[in-house]
Amino acid sequence: MKFEELANIRRSVRKFTSKEVEPTTITKLLDVARKAPSAVNFQPFKVYVVQQADKIEAVKRCYHREWMDAAPVVLIVVAQYDMGWKRAQDDKNHADIDVAIFTDHLMLQAAEMGLGTCWVCNFDVEELTGVLELKNNEEPVVMIPLGYPSNDNIPAKKRKGLDEIVVWI
Ligand SMILES: Cc1cc2nc3c(=O)[nH]c(=O)nc-3n(C[C@H](O)[C@H](O)[C@H](O)COP(=O)(O)O)c2cc1C
Repeated sequence: MKFEELANIRRSVRKFTSKEVEPTTITKLLDVARKAPSAVNFQPFKVYVVQQADKIEAVKRCYHREWMDAAPVVLIVVAQYDMGWKRAQDDKNHADIDVAIFTDHLMLQAAEMGLGTCWVCNFDVEELTGVLELKNNEEPVVMIPLGYPSNDNIPAKKRKGLDEIVVWI
């Protein structure tokens, strides 16, 4: 699939079929995503693959939406801020940016494989930190429900026009 087509078909999926996602498929996704660039190549993140019944239930409670119930897997990308590159000039930690690039690679690869994902950031950070038993240097940045999409009612993409976001100087 050409990149342009992939960028067009990737969308936030909030409706999943009951089809399971094989561990080999998840491993493939993660293996591609880890090729993403990161500041100074520090790769300051970890991914939790949540699929066990008790754990996934607890994780879904941290972002309680009915549409999440059907997702067979939830991935959580956790930033390790003590490992992130900090720009000397202003001390800006780039770990969140690195997590975002990793996540975007993962989502595009998932779309290419016929899988659905959705960025979720509006979760209860404290509760999720407890469920995952994260260390002090780790913080959950994005939750990614993963599964095979149910293809009905696909909304058209709404985006700002190029004239609204591009400045030619
Ligand atoms: C950083 C970020 C946080 C988001 N958080 C949520 C969220 O908490 N819940 C949700 O349903 N969607 C969330 N989204 C998905 C956006 O609503 C979605 O990407 C946007 O509306 C564009 O639609 P599309 O992904 O289908 O192209 C988030 C997206 C991003 C990039």
